Order: sequence, then C-alpha cells, then structure tokens
Amino acid sequence: IFPDGRRNARGINLNVSSQFKPLMEDMAPFFKRDYSAGPLVGFDLKDQNGERHDVICPWNHGHTIGRVRWTSAEETSRAIDVAWKAFPDWNDTPVEKRAAILERFADLMEKHMPELMAMCCMEGGKLLPDGVAEVREAVDFCRYYAARAREIFEAPTVLPGPTGESNELIMQGKGVFATISPWNFPIAIFCGQTVAAAVTGNTVLAKPAEQTSLIAHRVIELLYEAGMPREVVQLLPGDGATVGAVLSSDRRITGVAFTGSTQTAQLINRSLAARENAPLPTLVAETGGLNAMIVDSTALPEQVVKDVVASSYQSAGQRCSALRVLYVQEDIAERVIDTLKGAMAELSIGDPTHLSTDVGPVIDEDARKGLQAHIDRLKGEGRLIAETAIDADIAANGTFVAPTAFKIDGIDALETEQFGPILHVATFKGSEIDQVIDTINELGYGLTFGVHSRNETFANRVASRIRVGNVYVNRNIIGAVVGVQPFGGQGFSGTGPKAGGPHYLLRFANEKTRTINT
Ligand code: SER
Repeated sequence: IFPDGRRNARGINLNVSSQFKPLMEDMAPFFKRDYSAGPLVGFDLKDQNGERHDVICPWNHGHTIGRVRWTSAEETSRAIDVAWKAFPDWNDTPVEKRAAILERFADLMEKHMPELMAMCCMEGGKLLPDGVAEVREAVDFCRYYAARAREIFEAPTVLPGPTGESNELIMQGKGVFATISPWNFPIAIFCGQTVAAAVTGNTVLAKPAEQTSLIAHRVIELLYEAGMPREVVQLLPGDGATVGAVLSSDRRITGVAFTGSTQTAQLINRSLAARENAPLPTLVAETGGLNAMIVDSTALPEQVVKDVVASSYQSAGQRCSALRVLYVQEDIAERVIDTLKGAMAELSIGDPTHLSTDVGPVIDEDARKGLQAHIDRLKGEGRLIAETAIDADIAANGTFVAPTAFKIDGIDALETEQFGPILHVATFKGSEIDQVIDTINELGYGLTFGVHSRNETFANRVASRIRVGNVYVNRNIIGAVVGVQPFGGQGFSGTGPKAGGPHYLLRFANEKTRTINT
C-alpha cells in the first residue's frame, strides 16, 4: 500500500518523489520570471485600457508573479465579430489540417512542460505531481480529440438510397463557441474544451478563469506556435461580469462549453435563453458535485482510508470529482475513522514546490474564507473528527485551509459543495442502504461516486442504482484518464457530455444530410 516506504502503516503517501528531481531543475528559472498576460485576439488592440490586476502567488503572498490585463466589453464584441467572420473558412478547412495543429500543440506542451508546471505551481498553487498530471491530461485531450476528429469528420458516412440517388451524412462545426474554463485545471480543462470546439470546425472565444490568466495566455501562445490561426481561437481574459456577460448575451454565439459551478452554469443558461432572435444554443456544462462514497462492512479499512484521503485532500480537495461525503457501515466505522485520523495526522501542508508536501493552498482568499466559515460552523456544532495541523508561519503567508473531517447525519445535511479539503462522514446500518442511495440520488447531483466492498453483488448493485456520471469501485474517485474514464456528470452536475470520451466531439458538431439525384 505504501510503496516508497516514506510513511508507516498509519500514514498515507500521496506523492511519488524521485521522478520529479530532474524536472525541478528545469523548472527553476520559471519560478523567477515576471509574467504578463492580456487578450490574444485576431484584430489590432489599440487603446489597451482594460483593467489591470496583479497576480499574487497563493502560497507566498509576498510574491507578485505578474500582471494581467482584462479584456473590455468592447474588445469582447470585436473578438466575436472576428470569430463570426472566420467561421466559414475554418469550417471548410480539412479536418486533417485542424487535427495536425492539435498534435503539434501537444508536442509543444510536452516540450515546455517544466515552464507550464512552474506556472501551475505559482499561479494555481498546484503540487508538482498535480502539475505533471495537468500537462499530461492536456496533451492526452489534444491527441485523443485529433484522432477522434479524423474518424468523425474525414469522410461523410455513406447512407443507403434508391438507384439514382446518393445519400451522405456530413459532420460540420456549429459556429462560434465560447469556452469558459475553471482555475482548478487551468491547462487540462482549458485546453480540452478549447481544442474540442476548434477541431470540430467552430471558431472559439476562450475565457479562462480570472485566477489563472497567465497560464492560459502561455498556453494559447503555444497553440498559435502550433499553427492555430489567431482569428480561430482568441483568448479573452477577464471576469464573468464583463467578458462572460457579453459572450452569453450575444446572439452570434452558437454554443458555450462551460466548466465551473452549478450556479454559474444556470446563469449562463438563462442568459443564452434570454437572447432575442437568437438560434437555439448548445450548452455543454460540467459543474459541481456533492460526491459520496459508500463503504460496507466487508471493505478493507486501510485501502478505504488510502482512497478517501486521496479523493478528499489531493489537490487540496479542489476537484469537482473530490469526495465530500463518506458513508461507512456502522460495524467498521470505528476502525475506518481511527485509521483516517492517523492518516490525516501524517499529511504535510505547505509549499507546493516541496516534494514532501501533500496538500497545498486553496486558490485565493475568497475560497479560504468560505471554507473556513463552513469549518467554523461545523466545529461550533461539535462535529469535528480530525484536523491536520498547519505550521503558523505557512498559514500566515498563504491561503491554506487545514484538511478536516466532520461527522454529519447524512448528505442531505449539506446544502452546497464545499470546494476544498473538507470531508464529511456519516454512518449507516446495513438495512439502511437503499435509503442512503435514494438520499444521494434525490439530492440531484450526479458527478462521481465510490463504493468500497469485497461483496461483489453489493458493489454491483450500488454502482448500478446510483445516478452519476463516474462510478469507481474499490479505488479513489479522482483523476479520470482521457479515453479511459470519460468524465462528466448529470443533473446539477452537468449536461452530460463526457470529456475525453468517444462522443464528446459530437456535441460541438452539426449533422448535415446530403441527398443528390444522380
Ligand atoms: N477530471 C478530474 C478528475 O477526474 C476532475 O475535473 O479528477
């Protein structure tokens, strides 16, 4: 269970260290740079008078990493003009050419991995293993979607017809897409959404999360270096109230691919629907989850705790896939909770550049405050099971939140997702299992779910009845792999498309039937 021997049997190892040493040497110069970012668009930017913001490192508040200039409302509208005009030619460009750009982009991201990892660490507060995973996932998205695009778009599907008539089904882009991406996967999800929309023939306006604009800027520079025309993919850093509002209210936007909170997805949906005289839009949304794991009395407590710690605290719990509620059958609850306490005591919180760190900062002060308020409330109710200690100097210099575990009665006691390292634990009697499943389902989220059991019939039944996008049996519930675990949820967790899955690109395409009287 603990292959590198760094931890004893009560501890949990989240990282594998030795492989990162050479990469760290290559990363070193990028920690010292002064970065700057702004819009990257297909027209001349004249009066560059959008708001400017300093970017502060989340784990070292004394360090300003760089500056970003946000896109104004007027520039956002001009970028839509450019994308609108560029669409017909890009949509007519052979898929081979579009796919080849994605593959060159993947090669470039691999080549620049140390720089991208350093930026993820500095701007996003990511640990080194998370930085590697981030770049690898982005590369996987590019290569996977390039391959799928060739299969889907290369040649029309020939359909039957009577003598003297030929019928074909042709796939084409839909128009102008806005991609609105989150800060927690500033390369992987940002690239995944953007290249999926572009390789299918759409022109794209990419709005990255405000918190990770520097990374997005560097990534789009690499995309241009790979051959993507500037008018086909434009980068619009800025906030939702300006850039997001213009994008979701313009009638020329055919579709939006969004990853973020359920509330923001609902806002975008309402804004798209309120447009006058606009074609019916496509909304591809991947949103939050109140993800649960059910552990029955036959499960192995050590394995359960290893997977619970990874699912709840890796990436400081800032994954939409992360575990929020652990349901343990009463019979083994004490053993599981004791082992969990031991594992949490072993976690090390702090500087993401240290290979011994298990949990880094949360993204910013707003996030820290919201999480801390939830922690304080549950502590006030006497529900604390365990809290990992943080060194006071580290805590004072960044936006750190201690990993915590709390006892709750059930998932329905929680109103919203807490996007950080907070786990809630409930217990159940064997006879209550159907009620537990119904409660989880009725809440309406449906992203990830885990079941731990050595009773195959039990595990299969639970996995079958639970209504989520990704079910994991006897393992952790994070880290979906492109092409292997297509990722995405249902209900309050999203509109259903699975990123990194064989059908994802179809959501960005129109199907056209061509009938010729020969
Ligand atoms: N795809 C990520 C995971 O599986 C979450 O966005 O953890």
